[in-house]
Amino acid sequence: MTQAPARPDLEDAGPVETALPPLGDTVEPLLLTELPGPRALAHIAFDEQYTSPSLPRAYGIVPVAGEGAVIEDIDGNRFLDFCAGIAVNVTGHCHPDVVDAIQTQAAQLLHYSASDFYLPIYAHLAAELERIAPMKGKTRVFLGNSGAEVVEASVKLARYVTGRQNVVSFYGGFHGRTYGAVSLTGSKAKYHAHFGPLLPGVYHVPYGSEGLDELEQRIFHRLMPASEFAAVVVEPIQGEGGIVVPDDDFLPRLRRICDEHGILLVADEVQSGMGRTGTMWAIEHWGVEPDVLVTAKGLASGMPVGAMIAKEPLMTWGPGAHGSTFGGNPVSCAAALATIKLLEGGLMENAVVRGHQVLRALEPLVDQYPGIVRDVRGKGLFIGVQFDSGAIAADVEHEAFRRGLLVLTAGDDVVRMTPPLVVTEEQTAAAIRVFEAAVEEVARRQ
Ligand SMILES: Cc1ncc(COP(=O)(O)O)c(C=O)c1O
Repeated sequence: MTQAPARPDLEDAGPVETALPPLGDTVEPLLLTELPGPRALAHIAFDEQYTSPSLPRAYGIVPVAGEGAVIEDIDGNRFLDFCAGIAVNVTGHCHPDVVDAIQTQAAQLLHYSASDFYLPIYAHLAAELERIAPMKGKTRVFLGNSGAEVVEASVKLARYVTGRQNVVSFYGGFHGRTYGAVSLTGSKAKYHAHFGPLLPGVYHVPYGSEGLDELEQRIFHRLMPASEFAAVVVEPIQGEGGIVVPDDDFLPRLRRICDEHGILLVADEVQSGMGRTGTMWAIEHWGVEPDVLVTAKGLASGMPVGAMIAKEPLMTWGPGAHGSTFGGNPVSCAAALATIKLLEGGLMENAVVRGHQVLRALEPLVDQYPGIVRDVRGKGLFIGVQFDSGAIAADVEHEAFRRGLLVLTAGDDVVRMTPPLVVTEEQTAAAIRVFEAAVEEVARRQ
């Protein structure tokens, strides 16, 4: 047994007492130390002795408090959070309605497995998800604990109900890291390296209409007939792949192909859903109805829960075919119900307006920095800025962090912005200024 190293004093690592405005009202980043600060560095050294080296930490942010679109780190520095814990905190950090729902539920019932018993709030959330689902008819819902878990559920259901084995997914797509989900993932080879054999029967094609040509003209003809495919799993807008908005023909044509061959269309809205693009689901931008939709991340504002919503006639599996001890935990369900109410109560509208604000401000960067900024794109508050290389994108990410703005790279060369949907006009304007300064600094060094 190794001797435990001195643990940095985390007990007093809460918000630093100052005469500053409430955390959520902070407009500009407020930096008290170099970044990472001394307590952050001490904590990182501690963390690195105990946590799995597989965790892909982006930079040295050590958050201890959050409110609205603002994060406070262990040194008392305040950051504008345009990352939201990887597109999760849609209602902002610690929204009082969400906190209240969690506290009330936690005081009543922390856990009872909905797999073996009847948990009221589980069915209430299922009914709410049916109400907001982008499918017209009756649906049924399975709740899990994460995005990957409900992606797995969708593949199991698709195989079960179609009696077919094969699945199509897309290059650049990300669906999680459990075996089935990671087999569908096609964004980075390192997610597959040394883990084989993966789930058999997964065929990847390029994302967009070109990929559908490949599917129809090559795969269905030369590799595997369409009648052998159970599902196509697709992100309506790719997230980890670099905020890739497909051409307008892609999703409607994919729907037609699936209909023609009896293949289920599974929309993975784990990242793009829950109001982030200005509509509840990204697929609604193209008026396409999926057969199955999976969601997680923003669903409960940060509490762990994932949902698979499937058209009722597909839910033919019987008791025991699928379940989960923790899935649909009552506290997470309470947070999800509060989240849906807030999204419908104005946050989706805010995502549209703030999204336009960001795109309008950043689009000129493409002309301003030729050879450095290649594209600015997105819908609502699901925005990507593409650079000339991954190195430049990573530099911009770090320069933004050094100035108090949290963003995250995605794909090969993109910086992604996914702030909480509560972000204000002033905070958005400040974040734009910081981002522009970061790009200017990186461009100066080229
Ligand atoms: C589109 C998509 N699907 C699935 C997942 C996996 O979700 P989780 O990390 O909760 O397992 C992610 C995570 O980033 C995602 O972006």
